[in-house]
Amino acid sequence: MTLETIDLAPRIGTEIRANAAALLSGEHAAQIREVLGERGLLLFRELDLDDRQQVAFARTLGDVLDQGEDHIYKVTLDKTVTKTADYLLGTFFWHIDGTTDAIPSRASLLSARHLSETGGRTEWANTYAAYEDLLPAEKGTVDGLRVVHSAETIERVARPDFTEEDVADWRTRPVRSHPLVWTHASGRKSLVLGATASHVEDMDPDESRALLDRLLTQATQDRYVYQHEWRVGDLVIWDNTGTMHRVVPYAADSGRLMHRTTLIGEEPLA
Ligand SMILES: [Fe+2]
Repeated sequence: MTLETIDLAPRIGTEIRANAAALLSGEHAAQIREVLGERGLLLFRELDLDDRQQVAFARTLGDVLDQGEDHIYKVTLDKTVTKTADYLLGTFFWHIDGTTDAIPSRASLLSARHLSETGGRTEWANTYAAYEDLLPAEKGTVDGLRVVHSAETIERVARPDFTEEDVADWRTRPVRSHPLVWTHASGRKSLVLGATASHVEDMDPDESRALLDRLLTQATQDRYVYQHEWRVGDLVIWDNTGTMHRVVPYAADSGRLMHRTTLIGEEPLA
């Protein structure tokens, strides 16, 4: 039996209607992975999985990253819940998870546990579609370029009141060079952009910044984006290899809480 699917936006996002038992059985895992790769983002509205079920569902789709408590990382700006909450200020800016890791994560599952009264909607942009739509001359410009990504780049933007100690800490984290165009094992290509992108290698700094800014603006136009208005119990899965995401800013004391489970990366950025 195939699952009922409803597209959310023309170029990104599909809602899947299925009950928890069917999803946890793993019988639809192949279809879910296929639609995820094609559409970048899957929504399971008010699925209301508990933590154990969320991890079990994730395991039907891939290998789960050992992160957080029992594979559940609590996404919140409340430092009494998540000590590293300061780093989550970077989530207000477009990014791909793990651009400073050797292999970025494959996908993440995110469920809404408590919402903020203002802000807190999450947006995803399809980086395959953004590449596909570049003019041939633009593809010629970006193919072959390499971009340096660092934690420092996104943190400088996210936390403008940083101290010298903050900078020293950010500089202990890995810096990585990636191609601007990711050629996937499937042969499809996507853009690798976002707030971790420091500069294009071997390019004049001003020219590099202008190119990265222009491409980001282009890749995050409405036509490539789906913005999600959360309801408690919603579960979203995004393909981290073919999308960027960000959250509309919300207050640290809003109580907003999302539970994330991450699937380990399967292909190096090449
Ligand atoms: Fe993220």
